[in-house]
Amino acid sequence: RSRNGIRTRSHALMNSAPIGVFDSGVGGLSLLRELRRLLPNEDFIYYGDRANAPYGAKTHGEILEISKGIVDVLLSRGAKAIVVACNTAKAVAIDPLRAAYPNLPIIGIEPAVKPARVAGCKRVLVLATPVTVNESRFAALLRTNSRDGCEFIGVPCRDLAFMIENDRTSEEIEEYLSSVFAPYRADGFDGIVLGCTHYPLVKDEITRAAGADVRVFDGSDGTARHTKALLSELSLDSWARKIGTVEFISSDGSDHLERFYNKFCI
Ligand code: DGL
Repeated sequence: RSRNGIRTRSHALMNSAPIGVFDSGVGGLSLLRELRRLLPNEDFIYYGDRANAPYGAKTHGEILEISKGIVDVLLSRGAKAIVVACNTAKAVAIDPLRAAYPNLPIIGIEPAVKPARVAGCKRVLVLATPVTVNESRFAALLRTNSRDGCEFIGVPCRDLAFMIENDRTSEEIEEYLSSVFAPYRADGFDGIVLGCTHYPLVKDEITRAAGADVRVFDGSDGTARHTKALLSELSLDSWARKIGTVEFISSDGSDHLERFYNKFCI
């Protein structure tokens, strides 16, 4: 009985531990919003690496090293699981991270490519950072889903995450997007997949620049559902009845993440 008691208590400690979430900056807040909606009783620590943003302009080696450093910080704060809320870090670093931390559940954001195919789209632009678009994991995802009369095209958006991170106006963002979409207008497109977690934060601008008949797909909801399922499968879900908390850590020491979250995500 007492052995049981000890086991139950240590388990409870783990269950009440926070979930660590990270991105290069504010982008992952779009996923944090969904995670909190689906897992209201969990505590979260959100690490936004604004000092190193944007990741889309970094090398593989840099992204890997940075990601490992952040996971170490989140583990030192007692995280029971990690959500990589950045498509770029996910594409480059998730396999090495899982190898480096074999006992830690690590979930990565997944672009909503399959939902776009299942919804019956015919020609879909998958917007992402140049690093993500050039990744073999990403290319394979587009290839395997390009079937049943549906074609996926990876479209690198070099400046978009930077513009969102640095509070550019809606007009500037729409103008940039119009130039990104221009080469695809002639053959048309009927779907857009948001392959960077910054992009859901400007979904309205994307819809306006693309046209109202183009459907926009975001992977936050699916990734949050996957996180919830995995935590419960591993019996790591919180037993708390109270509403969970969020702690923000910004590598540049600013309160930008918190302000952004309160303004756009609540
Ligand atoms: N939010 C990121 C992503 O999902 C990274 C953007 C960047 O830092 O370049 O890819």
